[in-house]
Amino acid sequence: KKWYAVLGNPIHHSISPKMHDLWFQQNAIDASYIPIFVERDKLQETVVSLALLGCSGFNVTVPFKEEIIAYLDELDASAALAGAVNTVVRRDGKWVGYNTDGLGLLANIPNLSHDSRVLLVGAGGAARGIVAALSQKGIKDVTITNRTSEKASRLAQEFEVNEMNLSEVSAIFSTFDVVIQTTSVGMDSLETPLSNPNWTSSMLAVDIIYSPPETVFLKQARQQGATTMNGLSMLIGQGALAFELWTGIQPDQQEIRKTIFRHEG
Ligand code: ATR
Repeated sequence: KKWYAVLGNPIHHSISPKMHDLWFQQNAIDASYIPIFVERDKLQETVVSLALLGCSGFNVTVPFKEEIIAYLDELDASAALAGAVNTVVRRDGKWVGYNTDGLGLLANIPNLSHDSRVLLVGAGGAARGIVAALSQKGIKDVTITNRTSEKASRLAQEFEVNEMNLSEVSAIFSTFDVVIQTTSVGMDSLETPLSNPNWTSSMLAVDIIYSPPETVFLKQARQQGATTMNGLSMLIGQGALAFELWTGIQPDQQEIRKTIFRHEG
């Protein structure tokens, strides 16, 4: 029997075990998926133990997505570009690291094309993963904006995309097709990183936050007629790509979406 895991600290909130167990069940795969709480200074020992215990693959979450790289044997382009790993596959006795966060999110954005005009709000680790995925997908019309411009400039330079300060963005806001909110603002406050956005009905607002299910950023967008998508799409999208790397099967995303909503509601 194969088994998989997710390593994090904290880990109790993770919905990944429920998600992958459901997918194993739906696809009649005899495997299980366990959450593992890892002490801050025990990541290396944990990875060594997983190999000894015959683990077939694992996910990595906060705060280990960057540190894990040091303990892997190979990195896929998605992980090398993002500088972070969220999915690891055991292949020929080696740990191979991938990053499915950005690609999983993009896979769930409808109508995303090579001419889409994309705005990213924020310039931290989450933004980096998404810019890397956009670059991997060949989506070039990308702009980064951030409270601290220098951080956005650095990221923009690295991936050869645009940088604008918040007031420049505000002046041309409705020219973007997709706006992705990548900061933690709105997770435990009624704040939004954009003060006066002018949404239109042809725009799509994406937030990587899923709790609360509708941040102020998304609420404003919805009230002004834009289409909205919360962080569940990214969460489930990254899981689906990880599952596919492990099993070769693209899992169904509808049932797990319903299950999570039931538990949250
Ligand atoms: P993560 O790895 O989760 O992306 P991070 O690297 O700390 O976290 O990045 C956090 C992002 O949220 C940054 O873009 C940060 O903006 P600054 O670079 O200006 O710090 C943004 N952020 C955090 N708190 C914010 C706030 N109150 N208003 C606007 N942006 C905020």
